[in-house]
Amino acid sequence: MAITIKDVARETGCSITTVSLVLNKKETRISQKTRDRIIETAQRLAYHPNQIAAGLASRRTRTLGLVMPDITNSFFANIAGSVEAECEKRGYSLFLCNSNEDSAKDVDYIYNLMNQNIAGIMLIMASGNGGGHIPCCTGLLAEANVPLVFVDRFWPSSTAVNVYSDNEAGGYLAARALLERGHRRIGFISGTNGTASSNQRLYGYIRALQEYGVPFSSDLVAEGNYKTETGYLLGGKLMDKGVTAIFAANDMMALGVYRQAAERKISIPGDLSVIGYDNVAFTEFLSVPLTTVEQPTTEIGITAVTKIMAMLNGEADIKDEIFLPKLIERESIKNIDN
Ligand code: RIB
Repeated sequence: MAITIKDVARETGCSITTVSLVLNKKETRISQKTRDRIIETAQRLAYHPNQIAAGLASRRTRTLGLVMPDITNSFFANIAGSVEAECEKRGYSLFLCNSNEDSAKDVDYIYNLMNQNIAGIMLIMASGNGGGHIPCCTGLLAEANVPLVFVDRFWPSSTAVNVYSDNEAGGYLAARALLERGHRRIGFISGTNGTASSNQRLYGYIRALQEYGVPFSSDLVAEGNYKTETGYLLGGKLMDKGVTAIFAANDMMALGVYRQAAERKISIPGDLSVIGYDNVAFTEFLSVPLTTVEQPTTEIGITAVTKIMAMLNGEADIKDEIFLPKLIERESIKNIDN
């Protein structure tokens, strides 16, 4: 039975991430003592990472993997549906993996997919952790020559390709739609700090404020986690601060803001304007249809698969693909100028 990286991890009491970072000689803050223990153990167990590469080269299957962070959020389900349809069109199967925003699961899933001789992987990385686990993932996959496409959540890489929509532009569109309507105290509920899509939306929100000469106040920015519950809790805190509008970095958190407003008998948009992000299906069926920013999930899914196929065909110089978001104006925002 071939010795695997999991055996080395178990024997040394380290995570797969740590073992991979050390064996791939990635610059990290791992102590020399731990490095020495990992290297000694790998040698003693006669672990040879190339066993995976050799296995993959000879037995690659017509299966792709999609690792995504929250299967309960229809934004990701929409992307998964598009990816699955494109895979089927090309005669490939799809393994769907849900990390539940847990970065350690990203690593485990990638390792397990490699063990299934996967042909290529699309990763919507888990938020939080600031992407600290990603070098391990890219190292493992690059070494095994398995194509990797980062979807939706951008990560700069020399070995992987990115397919996403321009989140800074989307954040700008949302904030400008409120500023154009006279709002000057605009609350922003972000996703988890360090998540590329959320950070970029914040930058777009700040750019719009600057364009209208409105000072940025960190007091009006609250860190959520893309879940409805944080929209509910943080929406209340922002309402206590007297905002006239709230821009939630996704529709799930905007839904939480709606619930908070209803409990406080605050009218949307009469007393409070609300904008979300993603344009998932429920947004147009709310009692007050939600204004939001649409991401082209179908095109993103198709393009992610297309990039994987290009990598499998050995094409050179494959470029990132960045799509433009679109403001979907509905009834949840109001002009307070007049
Ligand atoms: O709804 C989840 C959010 O996280 C989406 O806006 C998507 O961009 C992802 O990064």
